[in-house]
Amino acid sequence: MSAVVVVDPGLTRELRRAVLRPHLTADDVLPGDDRPDAVHLADLAGDGRPLCASFVFPQPCPWLPGRTAWQLRQMATAPAARGSGHGRAVVAAAEAYAREQGAAVLWCYARESAAGFYERCGWQRHGEVFTDADHPTAHQRMWISCR
Ligand SMILES: CC(C)(COP(=O)(O)OP(=O)(O)OC[C@H]1O[C@@H](n2cnc3c(N)ncnc32)[C@H](O)[C@@H]1OP(=O)(O)O)[C@@H](O)C(=O)NCCC(=O)NCCS
Repeated sequence: MSAVVVVDPGLTRELRRAVLRPHLTADDVLPGDDRPDAVHLADLAGDGRPLCASFVFPQPCPWLPGRTAWQLRQMATAPAARGSGHGRAVVAAAEAYAREQGAAVLWCYARESAAGFYERCGWQRHGEVFTDADHPTAHQRMWISCR
């Protein structure tokens, strides 16, 4: 049995580092962890271990200007826990949280390899797969309407 709750970023930091930024060390600051407005969510196992984590924060969506939007970052499920619905549960909780805060849209820059996961969660692709200075590997703009 697991449950998605709001957590302190420190609880999920190692999971997010190991899955998404394995080149960083325990002393490095993860991108986004310095944001005071970030709300961290985690699906916790019965013993309190984070099985899946992510965070959200208010941020305009570049391709949907004028709509109140929140961004999702650093979705990570522990390798041994994948394929069991923990990712879907965290994304659903993120969407619900953003909606409660007044968001009309939740969006992200998804790794291309994870775009199918977001689609399974009801998200839409926007535009083509891209790379840029901040995203040197293939990424896909994705979003979901919260209302
Ligand atoms: C992508 C990730 C978060 C998915 O987490 P998860 O807990 O395994 O996902 P779930 O079990 O909730 O899967 C929900 C659905 O998405 C599907 N799915 C999961 N990962 C997928 C992927 N990479 N591509 C396509 N579909 C995927 C599942 O099969 C499931 O489908 P269903 O609706 O038919 O049951 C996880 O694989 C992960 O941490 N990957 C490495 C880090 C990463 O790429 N994060 C995303 C950064 S943008």
